[in-house]
Amino acid sequence: MSAQREKASRLAAPDITAMKGKTPIVCLTAYTAPMAELLDPVCDILLVGDSVGMVVHGLDNTVGVTLEMMILHGQAVMRGSRRAMVVVDMPFGSYEGAPEHAYAAACRVMKETGAQGIKVESGPTIPATIAYLTQRGIPVMGHVGLRPQAALIDGPFKAKGRKEGERERVLQEACATAEAGAFAMVVEGVAEDLAREITHQIAIPTIGIGASPACDGQVLVAEDMLGLFDWAPKFVRRYADLRAEIGRAVEQYAADVRARRFPGEAETYFGKS
Ligand code: KIV
Repeated sequence: MSAQREKASRLAAPDITAMKGKTPIVCLTAYTAPMAELLDPVCDILLVGDSVGMVVHGLDNTVGVTLEMMILHGQAVMRGSRRAMVVVDMPFGSYEGAPEHAYAAACRVMKETGAQGIKVESGPTIPATIAYLTQRGIPVMGHVGLRPQAALIDGPFKAKGRKEGERERVLQEACATAEAGAFAMVVEGVAEDLAREITHQIAIPTIGIGASPACDGQVLVAEDMLGLFDWAPKFVRRYADLRAEIGRAVEQYAADVRARRFPGEAETYFGKS
């Protein structure tokens, strides 16, 4: 009974949709159980982003990320969290074809992770897939603007929607995504005026990354805002400098081992004397 109550207290798609225009939505990426445990009490959504391929697995882009990787990281984040809605990214190649194939892949993610929703990047055929999935009970988050999975076609990660044709495309994709039944939408790498217009035009929350304060919520890659890398995009605010902190700790550990200061008495088991 208490386990049932605990499950019921998790945020889900309708809670997030209802936050539009009322409370700014807080979202961060999470890929592991310990990080999920740290972020869960303060986040509304934990996004198991396919950025895991670059952040954790050292890939150059997200194209090489597999469904199995997403499921494994989704399971870890579910184990480490209890309150936030967990959304798992569908990786490149798992949803862009026939809606039936997307449905099979999304069902695997939902059943094998227990997550509350999935995310797909936009494209001409994607609204039909979003409609197909949502009509069958799968909460879908859209993703418009800069599409990391399209890096090989769209070119290097650069803000989108500055040219007139591109602006129209992003706006149209956002409207189609909302009309197809998505419960919320990531808006990535667009200028403030376009983010404002999308947020104004659609009935579901926009969650911005590099898309100005005009969105209904914000998402960042947790490792970026914690300062784990020596470089971060302009839109990231670093709230910690973990890279320096970890560097200091590791150097101290190495010095202690080499000087035989570690382990000390406190870290040693002794037999009965
Ligand atoms: O994969 C990811 O982390 C994402 C965020 C950047 C929104 O899609």
